[in-house]
Amino acid sequence: MTRENWGSQLGFILAAAGSAVGLGAIWKFPYEVGKNGGGAYLLVFMFFVFTFGFALLLAEMFIGRTAQASATMAFRKLAGAWWPWVGRMSVLCLVLILGFYNVVGGWTIAYVAHAFFDSGLTTENNLTLTARFHALTSQPASALGYTAAFSMITAVVVVAGVQQGIERLCKVLMPLFFITLLVLIIWVLQLPGALEGARGFLSPDFSRLSAEGIISALGLAFFTLSVGCGMMISYGSYIHSEAPLVRSALWVVALASLACLLSGLLVIPAMFAFQVDPSAGPGLVFITMPALFAQMPGGQWIEILFFLLVFFAALTSSVSILEPVVSFLHDEFGFSRHRGTLVGGLFIYMLCIPTSLSFGVLSDWTVGGMAPFALAGYIVNDILLPAGGMGVALFVGWVVWPAMQKSLIKEGAGRWAPLLRPVIAIAAPALIVVLWLHAAFSP
Ligand code: TRP
Repeated sequence: MTRENWGSQLGFILAAAGSAVGLGAIWKFPYEVGKNGGGAYLLVFMFFVFTFGFALLLAEMFIGRTAQASATMAFRKLAGAWWPWVGRMSVLCLVLILGFYNVVGGWTIAYVAHAFFDSGLTTENNLTLTARFHALTSQPASALGYTAAFSMITAVVVVAGVQQGIERLCKVLMPLFFITLLVLIIWVLQLPGALEGARGFLSPDFSRLSAEGIISALGLAFFTLSVGCGMMISYGSYIHSEAPLVRSALWVVALASLACLLSGLLVIPAMFAFQVDPSAGPGLVFITMPALFAQMPGGQWIEILFFLLVFFAALTSSVSILEPVVSFLHDEFGFSRHRGTLVGGLFIYMLCIPTSLSFGVLSDWTVGGMAPFALAGYIVNDILLPAGGMGVALFVGWVVWPAMQKSLIKEGAGRWAPLLRPVIAIAAPALIVVLWLHAAFSP
């Protein structure tokens, strides 16, 4: 496997933004906002994105660009000792992420297919829509089948090598994606009750924010920016070793947070307008959006377009999750790209079996009150991503900081250094420890 490179800096920004903007922004963010009480959650989330998220994104890109290798190998090249374990933990984290990501990716395919073939299904009755979501997710055949379809498409793209395909795909899809979101928002805000929802989303009420809400906001900030498990180390390793990083990182952060803001402005007002329960959980987007489309002229086609875009957003992210796993199997065990994708993909699909059955036959199969799907999400969001973030923070803040500082000065961003160092070296690890302690000791 020869080490590929991005075609251009724009190509890298779009591929990294394509990785960041995905199901986190469109599917997970709105329901976490719903669950954790609206505006206050949004504020905390944005704070994490622009401070710790940005700093760690930059740190991961720096590690990858400097080592020209994926996480485990990069740590070994730059420092050795026990640092490669941070890389191995990241691979575990990536595998677990795809263990539920492929399931939701499968739902997007199902919704495109249903919208295409069943025009009669457009309705704004939320009970019917909820029932439809449950039917899709609870039947083992459709749950496993759609998950398999999404997993296979992801694998095909990874086998082909992501750079050529993804770079080109993102250039077309990202603008189209944002334009569609804007048009839908304008439409939804005119519906009765919608403005009230938008106000709830934008005005903070801190009394509704719990410590768990804050931890989940941190995990989601990492998840949305694709930091915390070494993926940006991989993508960073495909950039030229002299290329500047700060501007690229800023673009990725800006586009990812814009996507979250817009999807919140779309889904939450729709939830109010159609009286969908804010705690609808993972089904939220899949229940509220079809209700909206039912009200629009040509709604069936807009529904197809919307879920197709969500599918593509998910795909540009899922390939970015599988790619570092394949790269790991290559670096550590000498697997070819084909073999790595096959072995990694099959292993991940095995993990998808319990997660995809979590909404039906395995819904009572719980650990700590969580079925496998929720459990995987919890382990990733609340434990592994913050832990990986901590590893990267300690590494860049304490082990390779002089090199990072030199690189910042070289690209004319030296004034950021005195600000970034304390955030990366002290504040990020401290915050993560405090949040964990709180979670461990709160009843
Ligand atoms: N950021 C993506 C999303 O929001 C998910 C994702 C892609 C990811 N690559 C990642 C999350 C690496 C963590 C680590 O949908």
